[in-house]
Amino acid sequence: MDFTVLTLFPELIQSFFKHGMILRGIEKKLIDATCVNIRDFSTDRHNTVDDRPYGGGSGMVMKVEPLKAAILSAKKKAPESQVILMTPQGNRFSQKKAWELASKNTGLIFICGRYEGIDERIYTTLVDEELSIGDYVMTGGELASMVIIDSIARLIPGVLGSDESCRSDSFTDDRLEYAQYTRPEVFERQKVPDVLLSGNHEKIRLWRKKSSLERTFLKRPDLFKKTGLSKEEKKIVLQWCQELESLC
Ligand code: ADE
Repeated sequence: MDFTVLTLFPELIQSFFKHGMILRGIEKKLIDATCVNIRDFSTDRHNTVDDRPYGGGSGMVMKVEPLKAAILSAKKKAPESQVILMTPQGNRFSQKKAWELASKNTGLIFICGRYEGIDERIYTTLVDEELSIGDYVMTGGELASMVIIDSIARLIPGVLGSDESCRSDSFTDDRLEYAQYTRPEVFERQKVPDVLLSGNHEKIRLWRKKSSLERTFLKRPDLFKKTGLSKEEKKIVLQWCQELESLC
């Protein structure tokens, strides 16, 4: 999968590409990651990439010409790529969107805005989608693009050690991930649940299902509004009700 980031702060992105899972993905040739400095596409001798807003007001606006040239150059290398503008006004990024973009596998070009905004005319023909990572405003789209690339890259088969581990991630199927334990078996008098030591795969699967349901109920009940309970989950809830009733 091709990731291209258009930015005025290439060092920020380059260091991200040099570490951890992204680097391993690049080394395994599962990921191609490129960082493009938008300033390289400015045409005047001062390398200008921003200008004062028409109509007055504070701050500077990113100019359309260098940005367009940077996008077209990135598209030349990866013509199928989707162009994504990072902006707090965009659609909210989610785990579902991460899966969607990872499975489309078209290649992604991220535009990281800076200053007060980007000339409106960039939106009309050059941007396929606007994405936001939350309702807060950062000084630029760089951190947001890294958040999105990280969450997509780990879903590409072979990038993580175990493909299974991202299938049980929180938010996949609108549930939080189940509780996890590792050695020691007892820590400050808290013991790992016996079932996890039993070796019985079906019992472990059920326990995890229950744990995931419990956590979602307690921490993110809003997730149930999106999807109702599955047949198996209803059975677990019914069991809880019976257990509670027997306590009364
Ligand atoms: N640029 C600035 N703030 C942002 C946000 N919340 N999401 C995406 N891009 C941004």
